[in-house]
Order: sequence, then structure tokens, then C-alpha cells
Amino acid sequence: MAQVRDIGIDLGTSHVLIYMKGKGIVLQEPAVVAVDRDTDKILAVGQDALRLMGRTPGNIQAIRPLRQGSVSDFRLLQTMLHDFTAHVIGHHWFARPKAVLSVPSGVNDTEKRSIISVMFDAGMRRTQLLERPIAAALGVGIRFDEAYGSMIVDMGAGATDIAILSRNEVVVGSCVPVGGDYFDDAIIRYLRKKHNLLVGERTAENVKITIGSAMPQAQGITMDVTGRNLISGLPKTQAVTGMEIYEALQEPVADLIEAIQGVIERTPPQLAADIFEEGIVLTGGAAALTGLSESIYDVLRIPCGVADNPELSVAIGCGRALENTAAMRELLSDNRHKWIR
Ligand SMILES: Nc1ncnc2c1ncn2[C@@H]1O[C@H](COP(=O)(O)OP(=O)(O)OP(=O)(O)O)[C@@H](O)[C@H]1O
Ligand SMILES: [Mg+2]
Repeated sequence: MAQVRDIGIDLGTSHVLIYMKGKGIVLQEPAVVAVDRDTDKILAVGQDALRLMGRTPGNIQAIRPLRQGSVSDFRLLQTMLHDFTAHVIGHHWFARPKAVLSVPSGVNDTEKRSIISVMFDAGMRRTQLLERPIAAALGVGIRFDEAYGSMIVDMGAGATDIAILSRNEVVVGSCVPVGGDYFDDAIIRYLRKKHNLLVGERTAENVKITIGSAMPQAQGITMDVTGRNLISGLPKTQAVTGMEIYEALQEPVADLIEAIQGVIERTPPQLAADIFEEGIVLTGGAAALTGLSESIYDVLRIPCGVADNPELSVAIGCGRALENTAAMRELLSDNRHKWIR
């Protein structure tokens, strides 16, 4: 019988990643489900759902089961988790693996219990939850078991988790709905106001990734953006500059920095001194925005660095917790133990 390996899952708003013990990341899929609008039938999950959308638009809708860090559609979430876990572990009814799962902070206790139960139905023997900033810190390799402060900012699509870690726990933390989606919304609003150009979320995200920056651009880069002219109702292509997108992102970037500052202000002085010295580590896909760490440094004067492959940190952290669940006992929770915040 094939060996069944334990898995770590980063259940994110825009991506789901699965880490398999001894193998590393084995799945990285968009957290999206394609649904037939007329029949409400689920047609495809993940990358297949996006492919299907590309081929047959119209009555098919791509829905994210998680929005702004909390569950927006449990039926779709259930299907998605079943599909992804079955893909990596298959069906081994006599040798069920264990899972360590990191869920967005906005997911409430009832939803967490339901997710654990979905994981059981999907073939898991036991599922333990890990707080996202802790998973991110483990993934980056930050040690936080001593009386020393470390700061992690995990910026995903739906939300940003900001946390000060020390002695194996989150000493001060906050989760704000300022993630990559919030940046995309700011770009949509800007293009509408400045150019009468209506673009969708995916176009805005593409603009952000291609020419977006949190710092003013030295050289002028431009990009042709296609949307709908709000006045004529016809398609329109507009050349947009990097400087314009910098302008569009100034407000959401300021909101993010304000949230980080708010956490630092609530941090005990000794730990804050550690942070001023050691700096802030940024993880999550949205941390890859050009100039983000420089712009945080510019305002707060605290060193700030982005993890390598920041979108993988939480999944790798769940994997590291799996490799050593005995030592991690205090950090993991499930229905047999206390719930982690
Ligand atoms: N190079 C880039 N520049 C700016 N943003 C980026 C870049 N690459 C990815 N992103 C953004 O990162 C976000 C996705 O990150 P990630 O996959 O970590 O989110 P998630 O874990 O699914 O969400 P959450 O943690 O909020 O539940 C998207 O908003 C995406 O636009
Ligand atoms: Mg995430």
C-alpha cells in the first residue's frame, strides 16, 4: 500500500497551498470554484475553474469560497477542500493522514469546527489549526521561542495579519482587511475616476503586478489597459503610467502602514526595541508589491524585508509544524485542545 504522508495546508482567500511531509509544496491552486449560474451546479475547481471560465464565459461564474479572510460560501469551500486534498492524498481509507491547517484570522470558531469536520470527511485522521502569523514565521525560519520580539506581516489577497511574536505566542496582533484585493479595488476606483475606464478585478490585479509600486517610479513605465469607456459604453484601451498606479496605491499603502504602526504602539517597550533593531519581515503574495518594504521603512524607520517566495511562507510553516508536532503542541489547536485566537 502506498505510504500516506501528513499534509500542511495554507487555506488562503486567493490561493490554496498544500505541503506534503518529506516532499514540500505539492499543490498551489487558485482558491476558486466555477459554478453554473442557472443550475447552481459546481463545474470545476482551482486552475480548471479558471480555464473553464476562459473557454465558456456567459453563465459560468468563478467564485472564491473565502472573501476578506472569512468564509463566504461553505458549500463551495467544502467542495474545494475535498477536491484539493483528494488530488494530493488520493483515497486511503485505512491510513488517514494528519493535517496542519492555517486559516484566515477572520474565520470564526464555528467555521473552524466545520472546516475540521470537512477535512475529516475528506480523509484526514486529525486536523490541527495554526495561527497564520505563526505559520508564516515558522516558514521563514524566525525563532520566536525566547523572550525576544519578532514582527511578521503576512499580506495576502483578503487580509493582512500583523503580529509581534515572543515566547511562542502572538503578544500583540491585528488582522486588517488591507490585502492585495484592497489594492486592486483602489486601482479600479482610480482608473474609473481619472480615465472613465471601467476594469475588472483581474485586470486591476494584472496592472498592480506589472507596473504597480508603493514608491515613486524613477523611469516612466507604461502599460496599455483595456476596459469599458464609462461614457460611450464601448471598449477602450488607455496607456497608464507606473506613476499613476503609484498614486492610486498611496492611500491603501498608507492604511497598511498605519495598521503596522498601531500594532507597534501597543507593543511592550522591550519587545518594541527588539523590533526596531531586527526589523519587520513581510510574507504573503501581496508583500511582493514593488517598493513596499522601502515605503514602510520610509515612514516608520524600521528595517523591513520581504521573505524569499513570500507566497509560500505560510504553507512551508504548516509543513514545518507537521515535521515536529510534539514540539509544536503549544502552537497547534483542534477540538481536543484550546482554540487559538
Ligand atoms: N508581484 C506582485 N506584486 C503585487 N502583488 C502581488 C504580486 N504577486 C502576487 N500579488 C498579490 O498577492 C495576493 C495573493 O497572495 P496570497 O496567495 O499570499 O494570498 P492568500 O494567502 O490567498 O490570501 P489571504 O492570506 O488574505 O487569505 C493577490 O492579491 C495578488 O495580487
Ligand atoms: Mg495567505
